[in-house]
Amino acid sequence: MPHSVRHEPTPLEIVKDNNMEGKLLGKWAVITGSSSATGIEIVRALAATGLRLILPVPNQAEAMVTLGDAYHPNRMEFVTIDHTSLDSVREAAKHIISKTERISLLVCNETATPSPDLQLTKDGFEVQFATNHLSHFLLFQLLKPELLAASRPRFQSRVIVVACEEHKKHGLNEKSNYNFEKGGYDAAVAYAQSKTANIYMANEIERRYGTRGLHALSTNSGRIIAAASQSDDGKSLHPNLQPETAGKSCVRGTTTTIWGAIGSEWESKGGRYLSHCADARTRDSEEDIYGTTCAKHTYNPVEEARLWQDSLDIVGLLDDQ
Ligand SMILES: NC(=O)c1ccc[n+]([C@@H]2O[C@H](COP(=O)([O-])OP(=O)(O)OC[C@H]3O[C@@H](n4cnc5c(N)ncnc54)[C@H](OP(=O)(O)O)[C@@H]3O)[C@@H](O)[C@H]2O)c1
Repeated sequence: MPHSVRHEPTPLEIVKDNNMEGKLLGKWAVITGSSSATGIEIVRALAATGLRLILPVPNQAEAMVTLGDAYHPNRMEFVTIDHTSLDSVREAAKHIISKTERISLLVCNETATPSPDLQLTKDGFEVQFATNHLSHFLLFQLLKPELLAASRPRFQSRVIVVACEEHKKHGLNEKSNYNFEKGGYDAAVAYAQSKTANIYMANEIERRYGTRGLHALSTNSGRIIAAASQSDDGKSLHPNLQPETAGKSCVRGTTTTIWGAIGSEWESKGGRYLSHCADARTRDSEEDIYGTTCAKHTYNPVEEARLWQDSLDIVGLLDDQ
């Protein structure tokens, strides 16, 4: 049963409720964006399942410090990655594959800091589209054989792409305008496009590989609040609001991602956008106080297929189907 938005558990409670403590020992997971904020809590919760973790990070020494007590060197390994560079993603994938032939879980959590002005990566792509979407698309493609190889009847392989409520603001630009080539750059639109792309990637992975035991979900962490109120989920700042509207701590902002990543409810399933620990409903009214709805464009097989093909062309890969 989906959890009530008013009684959303912590990520570690999700692990316990699903009887997953130590149950994934011997299996491997890759988590991007693990070196700050919600990423640290994803590491902490997934470590409790026994998974061995590969953590692609921009700076290994800094990541070790920020992960603090969540870092366990005997069960975690860093790989250096710069998500703004497709070459760096290719290099990181090579290192990951050199460590394991089977990956049961890929969590795409990394996100670029939105820039008020249009910025292009050195590959020539708008920064948010490039780092939030293209880098994860390429990483998935390069790790796909290992993800397929790891799938087992008791735990089929999963890809979790962390998206955002903000995707509702905008779908995909047209093919010739992913990088705002036609002008009109807006940081919020660029972020929304990249987060819609995250959801479309998950939906299309499910469509293409679900029957082969490789599933994908997208998740919304919810608005993360300032560090000052991490301990009480913002209650001191917004005593009359639920965390879903007031904002969440990094810990609770991780719950939905962990639910999708290891929750038994999602075994052998995918292609859904999860928000606040529920399968988000299509918006049918303007009342959305808990942000548990999706937008009309959240599911769009035609646009999902278009993005997939365009992304293959951009990263220089051929379709395998
Ligand atoms: N924060 C929110 O309110 C919110 C709301 C809804 C959804 N989300 C989604 O939740 C996810 C995590 O958000 P967050 O707020 O926890 O993110 P964050 O604190 O901004 O952390 C981003 C992570 O990505 C890494 N990163 C950034 N640029 C990179 C690059 N070029 N190469 C390699 N790594 C890079 C950062 O590494 P370093 O720190 O080591 O540089 C960090 O670990 C994102 O997908 C975001 O869209 C967030």
